[in-house]
Amino acid sequence: MTDPQLPRAAQIVERVQESPTIFTLRLKFADPAHHAAFRFDPGQFNMLYLHGVGEVPISIVSDPQDEHLFDHTIRVVGRVTHGLASLKTGDRLGVRGPYGRGWPLKSAENRDVMVVTGGLGCAPVVSVINYVMRRRARFGRLVIMQGVKHSEDLIWRERYARWSKSPDTQVLEAANVGATLWPWHVGHVTELFDKVQIDAKSATVMMCGPEGMMQVAIDHLTGRGIAETDIHLSIERSMHCAVGLCGHCQYGGQFVCQDGPVFSYREIKALFGKRGF
Ligand SMILES: Cc1cc2nc3c(=O)[nH]c(=O)nc-3n(C[C@H](O)[C@H](O)[C@H](O)COP(=O)(O)OP(=O)(O)OC[C@H]3O[C@@H](n4cnc5c(N)ncnc54)[C@H](O)[C@@H]3O)c2cc1C
Ligand code: FES
Repeated sequence: MTDPQLPRAAQIVERVQESPTIFTLRLKFADPAHHAAFRFDPGQFNMLYLHGVGEVPISIVSDPQDEHLFDHTIRVVGRVTHGLASLKTGDRLGVRGPYGRGWPLKSAENRDVMVVTGGLGCAPVVSVINYVMRRRARFGRLVIMQGVKHSEDLIWRERYARWSKSPDTQVLEAANVGATLWPWHVGHVTELFDKVQIDAKSATVMMCGPEGMMQVAIDHLTGRGIAETDIHLSIERSMHCAVGLCGHCQYGGQFVCQDGPVFSYREIKALFGKRGF
């Protein structure tokens, strides 16, 4: 049997440039049997390996029922993501995964769902929005909050506009700096909490973004009566093995690669936002 820690060859079937620094790779494993057996939960991640450059953890953003392809949306920040950005349709890269614990979507059924993202955090939680939209009748109200530094950083604008017209769905967008014709709020996304219409006693919150932004959101949400166990955060830490062996992603007594990247606030409250962790 092939070692599950070895990257498997995957081919880029489509490459989409989402913004000057963000792109999506739509992938398929070269081995049809491996592709057919590949299963994942929204919120899990793969390790993408670029030969001669290195390996990085990247969330899977497509729907688990899209068996044809799986998608990764990547922002260029450094060495490996820069290398990945240079790949073209038809090129191959190494992929191993999926890893980690994803979003609690099963336990969120029949409840309101609130998705809060800031900046780069959009990729891991957009899988939640796609999942809920595809199974709309199973969930209550959907609230989507997204904050970006500059309005031009917002990708998937047409999707947000479409989602805002869906029944029982509220979309609140904010940009710290808004270009001309920016139709949403100018300022921090956390300034929009008073507009949120949600049943605090029956709401599951899923968020991703800068930890400072998430702390402001948590303070507001718990103040509104949402339980710490109903607030879930996706945490980013530097990773190497992705399987709980090397300690690179250690977070107190937990490993982000295995016990996360999604944690309830209650699970990580003692460490969250503390310098050095
Ligand atoms: C579970 C998980 C899921 C992720 N999902 C996505 C995703 O869907 N899309 C996406 O674009 N990125 C995602 N990331 C972040 C991505 O892994 C990093 O941007 C990538 O590892 C940077 O590698 P690099 O070689 O390009 O940059 P490097 O050359 O390693 O670093 C460039 C700069 O980015 C900083 N940096 C590197 N890694 C991280 C990190 N993990 N968190 C914060 N800062 C970092 C470095 O300190 C440095 O300042 C995820 C990270 C984790 C842990
Ligand atoms: S990345 Fe090695 S323990 Fe998590």
